[in-house]
Amino acid sequence: MSEALRKVRSLDVLCEETYLKAMAIRPILTVPDPVLKQRSKPVVGPVTDEHRALMDDMLETMYAAPGVGLAAIQIGVPLRIIVMDISPKEEEKQPRFFVNPEIVWASEETKPWEEGCLSVPDIYDEVERPAQVKLKYLNRDGQEIVEDAEGLFAVCIQHEMDHLEGTLFIDHLSRLKRDSAIKKVKKAERERASEGAAL
Ligand code: NI
Repeated sequence: MSEALRKVRSLDVLCEETYLKAMAIRPILTVPDPVLKQRSKPVVGPVTDEHRALMDDMLETMYAAPGVGLAAIQIGVPLRIIVMDISPKEEEKQPRFFVNPEIVWASEETKPWEEGCLSVPDIYDEVERPAQVKLKYLNRDGQEIVEDAEGLFAVCIQHEMDHLEGTLFIDHLSRLKRDSAIKKVKKAERERASEGAAL
């Protein structure tokens, strides 16, 4: 269990509500926002309460979307921070936090997976990535963790780590597919904006 959840659980209901309300849902940037193409900077020095507050906002934003992973750059913060929860919907939430993640080993074996992205809403396509990776990162408390990943975890961490380099999953597709995805997202956003204006 993460420190965040442990903290929430150890408080009474009223305080839990107060704690949750302190988190904020932030707008998620979508393509073709140039900020998404930025390379994120490492967190230098210890993981602070300020970083943890950012992680809480990211988590809240990700759950509300809903999504299974989010990189800080997707809410406009160019820091190498990722949040994730790949637990099945019906199960208890299992938030995970990654600061300065690095892939220290990747399998030669690759696997295709149908990916989507909160910054490229409603677009899904297959991306081929290493099937297993070993990663090194700092957790929410700033402790260094080395962990093996496979399946959805491996897909998700590689997808989110791409965001830290300014790479989106559609950048792994053909130019034609990428351009068409961006066009669809822009069109959907224009439609949403005009619906809003009509109200
Ligand atoms: Ni994404």
